[in-house]
Amino acid sequence: MSDSRTAAWDQIEALPQASLSDLFAGDDARVDRLSGRIDWGEGEDAAGIRFDWSKTHLTADLLDAFDGLAEASDFAARRAELFAGEPINVTEGRAAEHTAQRGSGSEASVEEADALRTRMQMLVEAIREGALGDVNHLIHIGIGGSALGPDLAVDALTRDLAYVDCHVVSNIDGVALEEAFAACDPATTLVAVASKTFTTIETMTNAESAMRWLREGGVSDPHGRVIALTANPERAVEWGVDETRVLPFMESVGGRYSLWSSIGFPVALAAGWDEFAAMLEGAAAVDAHFRDTDGRDNLPLRAAFADQYYARVRGCQTRAVFAYDERLALFPSYLQQLEMESNGKRVTSNGEPVDGPTAPITWGGVGTDAQHAVFQLLHQGTHMVPVDFIASIAPGDALDPAHHAILLTNCFAQGAALMAGGNMSADGKDPAREFPGNRPSATILCDDLDAATLGALIAFHEHRTFANAVLMGINPFDQFGVELGKKMARDIEGGAAEFDASTKALLEASGLG
Ligand code: F6P
Repeated sequence: MSDSRTAAWDQIEALPQASLSDLFAGDDARVDRLSGRIDWGEGEDAAGIRFDWSKTHLTADLLDAFDGLAEASDFAARRAELFAGEPINVTEGRAAEHTAQRGSGSEASVEEADALRTRMQMLVEAIREGALGDVNHLIHIGIGGSALGPDLAVDALTRDLAYVDCHVVSNIDGVALEEAFAACDPATTLVAVASKTFTTIETMTNAESAMRWLREGGVSDPHGRVIALTANPERAVEWGVDETRVLPFMESVGGRYSLWSSIGFPVALAAGWDEFAAMLEGAAAVDAHFRDTDGRDNLPLRAAFADQYYARVRGCQTRAVFAYDERLALFPSYLQQLEMESNGKRVTSNGEPVDGPTAPITWGGVGTDAQHAVFQLLHQGTHMVPVDFIASIAPGDALDPAHHAILLTNCFAQGAALMAGGNMSADGKDPAREFPGNRPSATILCDDLDAATLGALIAFHEHRTFANAVLMGINPFDQFGVELGKKMARDIEGGAAEFDASTKALLEASGLG
């Protein structure tokens, strides 16, 4: 670590640790100072998200010191490299150009992304106009970044109306694919095969089984029902997809950052092109904020300050995210890949061992369900878990407004209770009923949960993840950690490897040894 980064951390670690209640008691402007909005649209279309970090332990002194850490970590230079399409993924020697898909990047990359998007739009519109016959179902086959984003966005945006009934299948466990088959009619089903590399074993095995199912279901040319979403178009053509139905995306778009590329095809088909475009516009508003705002006023960076503080100074090993919105049920799983695959690293960008904890474990669920399951630990367990609450002011349902009022009240009450603590017993002395309080949370309050808001929420977390990586000096854009297990599975299949006694016994017990 450079001397200036060590000095910034020394300063952060030396600052006093006041309780949240004290921080509020001494400061009338705290909420305003630690809340901010990102907005987009105009007039009737104006909307945005409020980010309230006031219930975290960030103080003016901590923000000063973290601004110093950002400077010592060359945050502005790293960010400029990200937006300029420089090869900031140093271990793989390439750029990370997800923002170019939303209009922010080098001119050439933005142009290329626009052209690829236009190609996708033409195919989506042709399908909707009947070019591939009746289409009632889409089975989207992909895994990791090729599945989690589409799954989240289709689930969030098509609850009221979907042009096609969409099933996202990722697991190699055939149970998942069989479930999709049971819900679809082969005669009116399209299959999207989504894979950046077009080599991933789970995806290609599922795709082969889907072809067999179509053929057995009476479809004479199963590959004619496939749309390939990939950065390896040659491979997709070799596999049997006609190039008119291959939607390529750029190699510089990472798997977990690929929802904005052709990997978003099921969103565009099921929710409609306008919704897909709105999702990109919401993300673009966050890109503009992140690119143009300096220091603590940069909201993803401010969130990263708090993340770093809790992981490193307070020793928090996990971070929890609770969406008080059924439409965001898949958001915690999406974030798990984004944050843990990006920042779960043990060496810096220079290959040196990191000198502190990297990504905490991201977990979470949906409110209010989670209150009746895991919140006990948050309130009274021995761990300190920083929590993010996400909610929408406008309801997603048309039932009695009491539903949404109770939902939001619960969301806000949980943050207040975590912070305030107290004793629930009559005499105020029963230790079993004691709540220590002083437990941090942040609240992300959306005006509404529409496509633009979803795009903005995801982009906020992409930039928060990147900001965390810069503050830690690590590369968030590679994922070598997933390779060893994959190699061993290949070795087992090929019968090539010698394994430990336990693994051998398990293989033998399963008839695979
Ligand atoms: O195994 C991890 C991973 O490489 C992810 O990063 C990626 O999103 C996923 O596999 C799927 O890869 P592909 O899109 O190439 O099939």
